[in-house]
Amino acid sequence: MEIFQAVTTRRSIRRFKPDSVPEPLLREILEAARWSPSWGNTQPWEVAVVTGAVLDRFQKANRQHLIDGVTPNPDTPMPEAWPEPLKQRYGDVGKQVLTALSIPRRDKEARLRYAGEMFALFSAPALLLFSVDRGIPREYAMLDTGAIMQTVCLLAHARGLGSCILAASVRYPALIREIIPIPETKAVIIGVAVGYPDKEAPINQFTRERANLDAFTLWFK
Ligand SMILES: Cc1cc2nc3c(=O)[nH]c(=O)nc-3n(C[C@H](O)[C@H](O)[C@H](O)COP(=O)(O)O)c2cc1C
Repeated sequence: MEIFQAVTTRRSIRRFKPDSVPEPLLREILEAARWSPSWGNTQPWEVAVVTGAVLDRFQKANRQHLIDGVTPNPDTPMPEAWPEPLKQRYGDVGKQVLTALSIPRRDKEARLRYAGEMFALFSAPALLLFSVDRGIPREYAMLDTGAIMQTVCLLAHARGLGSCILAASVRYPALIREIIPIPETKAVIIGVAVGYPDKEAPINQFTRERANLDAFTLWFK
């Protein structure tokens, strides 16, 4: 797939087909993604590739934690509030998702059911968990992790896979460590759900917005 096409046609996939992703394909993607840039070529990332029974256990337990109202304690704290226009955009995605699923905003039960699906990682057949050593300065490691994360998403897309970057996958790191042996010395940064997209599902089809170029670029000559 041509690079511009890959960038502009990738989208977050929130419903997957049940088919598993062949391990050689995941390897091919990660083999290429290791060429992502990083500060001073430090390559601070570690990627846990989680599939099969281990993933199944984690999906169920992560969902249950949400349903039980367990207080999240992510290694990467989530923003509590956004200034405008970010707040508006954040709210808009939530609305678009609910509309695509025909869930009325006031239907709290259906919203919680959907949140449960998200915390079950949309039943994706593979999860890539990106972590970095706690001992290194986090800011640049976050940039580096973001670079490889996006590279993985684009490569997955180029191979006909779908992905969803999921803060919801790393809200309960203690739970992650109970099921997936990521040591305490590593901070879990983000997870990416990967699988074959259900292209027919409305949740994978809604129109997404982006700010115009002029809204975020300044040109100096
Ligand atoms: C750091 C990060 C965390 C995200 N966490 C979630 C999440 O927990 N749940 C979800 O449905 N989407 C999540 N997303 C996906 C965003 O909502 C999505 O990228 C954004 O709405 C733009 O849509 P697009 O990916 O389809 O272009 C996350 C994206 C990023 C970059």
